Parts: sequence; C-alpha cells; structure tokens
Amino acid sequence: MDSKAINSLAGQRGFRSFYTDLVADPRAVRVCTGLSCHLAGARCADVAGSDPPARAVQCLGYCDRSPARLLPDGQIVLTAGSSAASIRNIAREAIVTARIGKGDFADLERARSVGVYQSLAHALGRTPAEVLAAVEDSGEQGRGGAGFPTGRKWRLAAESAGTARYVVANGDEGDPGSFIDRVLLEHDPHAILEGMVLCAFAIGATAGVVYIRSEYPTAQSRMQTAIQQARAAGLLGAGICGSSFAFDVQVVAGHGSYVCGEETALLNAIEGRRGEVRVRPPYPAAQGLFGQPTVVNNIETLVNIPWIIGRGAAAFRRLGTADSPGTKAFCFNQGFARPGIVEAEFGLPLRELIETHGGGGRDGRPLAGIALGGPMGSILLPGEWDVPLDYRQLARRGIQSGHGGLVALPADTDWQALMVHWLEFMVQESCGKCVPCRLGSAQALALARQADTDEAHRKLPALLDLIATTSLCGFGQSLPGPVERLRALALAAGTAR
Ligand SMILES: Cc1cc2nc3c(=O)[nH]c(=O)nc-3n(C[C@H](O)[C@H](O)[C@H](O)COP(=O)(O)O)c2cc1C
Ligand code: SF4
Ligand code: FES
Repeated sequence: MDSKAINSLAGQRGFRSFYTDLVADPRAVRVCTGLSCHLAGARCADVAGSDPPARAVQCLGYCDRSPARLLPDGQIVLTAGSSAASIRNIAREAIVTARIGKGDFADLERARSVGVYQSLAHALGRTPAEVLAAVEDSGEQGRGGAGFPTGRKWRLAAESAGTARYVVANGDEGDPGSFIDRVLLEHDPHAILEGMVLCAFAIGATAGVVYIRSEYPTAQSRMQTAIQQARAAGLLGAGICGSSFAFDVQVVAGHGSYVCGEETALLNAIEGRRGEVRVRPPYPAAQGLFGQPTVVNNIETLVNIPWIIGRGAAAFRRLGTADSPGTKAFCFNQGFARPGIVEAEFGLPLRELIETHGGGGRDGRPLAGIALGGPMGSILLPGEWDVPLDYRQLARRGIQSGHGGLVALPADTDWQALMVHWLEFMVQESCGKCVPCRLGSAQALALARQADTDEAHRKLPALLDLIATTSLCGFGQSLPGPVERLRALALAAGTAR
C-alpha cells in the first residue's frame, strides 16, 4: 500500500472512530442514560441480551418524561407515557413558546397564518444595517450557554472580510435536561428559518446550515420539509419574497458527539471532519465555516429574532432585566412535580422558578438540590436558590445556567454515584484534542471510583483544578466544577466509597 493510500485510510478511520453513530450497530435501540434518565433508573444493561445490543446515549430530548429510548425507525419510547410536553408561559409576552402546542406550525401555511415570515417581509423593506442595529439595540444574548450578545456577533461577521458568509443554527442540544431546541425544531421550524434569513440579510450571507443531532430524527425530517416548503414559496433561495436577496439553507445531521455542540467543533463536523474543537481566536464570526465569516447561533436565540424585528428592540427590552432583556425557556425534567417547559422573563428568582413553576419535587418529595445547565452547569442546593435569573447576577455568584435545563436531585441522591456518572460522561464525550481533558478525565474517573481513599483525597482536587485551568474549551474548563461539588457533597454525606 502506498503512503497516499495509508493516509487516506487513516483519515477515514480517524473520522469514523470519532463519531459514536458511525461505529455503532445502526439496528441498536438507543437507551438514554443521560442525567435525567439515569436518575429515573435507566441503565443500558437493563436491555442487555437484546439482538442487536442496545447502546447508551446521553440525552434524547425527552427529559420531562424520562426514561426514554429511541428505536432504529425513529420512534421514541417513553416509560412515563407519550403525551405532549407541558408548555407554560409566565412572561408578559410569550416569544419562544408562542406557537408551541397551539397547532402544527411545521406546516408553512399554518405558520404564515399566525404571522411567521411577516418580520422578514418587513425587514426586506429596510436596509441590512437597520436590521443589524435592531438586534444590537435589543440586547439579546445567545441562549446556547455563553450568553454572548447576538448583535455584536452579527456585526463582527458583517464587517469581517471574506468571499462568502454563512449562518449556522446550532441544533446540537446535548445537555441532558434541555429539550426546548428539539421542541422548536419539531414544532416551529419556520420561525427558526425566518431568524436565519433575517441574520443572513443583516450580515450578507448567502448560505446557511441547520445542524441537528442524530438523536433528534423527527426534528431533522420536519426541518427538511420546512426548508422545501419555504423554498417552494420563495422564502428561501434566489430572489426571496421578490427581492434581489438570495439565501438558502440545508440540514446537516450529527453523528453522535456532545462536543459537536461547541461552535468550532460544530463547524468541523459540518465540513466533514472529526468534531474536534478549534483554537480560538479566530472566532467563527471572523473565520468560521470553510474559513469564512460565520454566525453560529443557538436555535432559541434565532427564534427570538423575528419577534425583535417585528415588535422592535424597545419592546424586547421591556421584558426581563436591563442586563438580560427578554425571556428564557427553562426545561424541567421528570423529577419535578411539573415537568415541561416554562418560558419566563429574566429576573425571576430561581427559587420561584423551582418551587412555584416546577412545583418542587415529584410526588411532593423534597429536593436535595438541582442540576442547572447540563454537565458544564452548576449543582445548586436549596440555600443557593435565592438568586435572580439574570446573566450578570448568576455570573457574579459563579453560577453557570447553560441552556436553562433543570434536573431535580431528590433527597436520597447518591452524590458519589452521581460524581462517577458525571465523570463517565466526561470520559465518553471529551473530543480528545487536548491532554488535560482527554487523559485527565480518565484519571479523575479512576480516582472518583475510590473517592474516600488517601490517594483520591490527595490527587483528585488538584487534578480537577488542573483540568479546569488548562483545558482548551468550555467542556474541560467547566465540567470539573460540578464534579468537585459532588465530591464535597459525597464526603459530607459520608457516601464516598
Ligand atoms: C462542549 C460545549 C458544548 C456546547 N453545546 C452547545 C449546544 O448543544 N447548543 C448550543 O446552542 N450551544 C452549545 N455550546 C455553545 C456554543 O459553542 C456557542 O456558544 C453557541 O452555539 C452560540 O450560540 P448563541 O450565541 O446563540 O448562544 C456548547 C459549548 C461547549 C463548550
Ligand atoms: S477541553 Fe476536552 S472537549 Fe475541549 S478541546 Fe480539550 S479535549 Fe476537546
Ligand atoms: S431524555 Fe434522557 S436525559 Fe434527556
């Protein structure tokens, strides 16, 4: 075999071995062992002996009805029944969930009948600079976790030199406990497309991608259909709404990788590479997809855009707080008395969200705490719930709210087992690009499994600190925080083994 052939084989194997789906049996049932399903008792071993063997995945986006399984034909099996997710709005204006549960708005005609694409028509009568200014003035911050100002990102992309510009909708939603993006992709795909077209108009992009994880097959097919409908109606493609503006969108499917939700790993995945994180800077807004200026926005972030353009930045700023305008969709898992999605204005106290709107623990059971914002988020005990949900206030207390998923931790939570679960997730999902995260996570897991030994006491805190301070991306930087918290709780409870 010549060296070119070997290189190409290595390249193919390197790509294939990175993505779980590409090495797994496609006939296998996917058993969710993500945090919510794990707490509901799901274990992959429960379906051991099945042919083909079942395989564990981290979240299927049905955490309000855990435990969940995904059959090879795309059907979801929920132990707790399959009734629709509960959606409640407690904001003065529903933005994100305005249409959810009120009809099939994946259908273009129905979506148009309630005003979807009206903001686009309105925007096409203005200049791109005016649309960009409206998004900047709204003060909207990205809902994907980092809270970066959307308008600032758009301006950077609009003003960066390139031969093309792109818009990418991040539908990877890997955090166990979050499912708003799945619900929006399945039930309001035209609002996402409208947000993308508005972004493209503002920054001068001609092509866009909706990246959707493989655990969301229904979302993929509904978005595909929505794109075809929008194209046929002249809302995508050349000459949008009879103007000279052209922009088209395609769906790219993920292959099973949590870190592909990180924006630079996502871009690598779209380009057909291993979903490894890129060194930043350059940021995607300056050099993103194929090296060109690219806006990567979360699904929920994009759904806010048509509302902002249609109703105006000032109306958006009247909701929420000065530091965090607008609303956020918070997801409650099955461990709460009232699982589902609650859209609330920023500024609402976390305690009120949990106790009043989440209803506290399921069946009146007391909560030992909550996990907020997924594996890179925060573990918060009841004494820490008196904080307004506002990006600045949360950051001041070192709280990471991530994408706004809440998982109930019941009073009998085994902290030691949870710490091991957290680190197993880290080992499984590390993209492997940097040594502290790739090797450190495996060492931390080995130590955590024997947490109450002298060696673990001596080494684990320092190792977690090393991973947090030297890792390349938010995954390695943030994940040790909750692990350290769980370790302290396990030691305090005397459950460390
Ligand atoms: C490990 C990791 C995973 C992430 N996963 C997601 C994700 O699934 N969805 C998402 O929107 N953002 C995710 N992010 C954040 C993205 O990198 C990026 O900040 C976001 O998509 C930008 O959109 P926004 O400004 O609209 O929030 C992740 C970040 C990290 C470090
Ligand atoms: S911290 Fe982990 S996930 Fe992030 S680049 Fe390093 S190895 Fe990859
Ligand atoms: S569906 Fe299992 S953790 Fe989300």
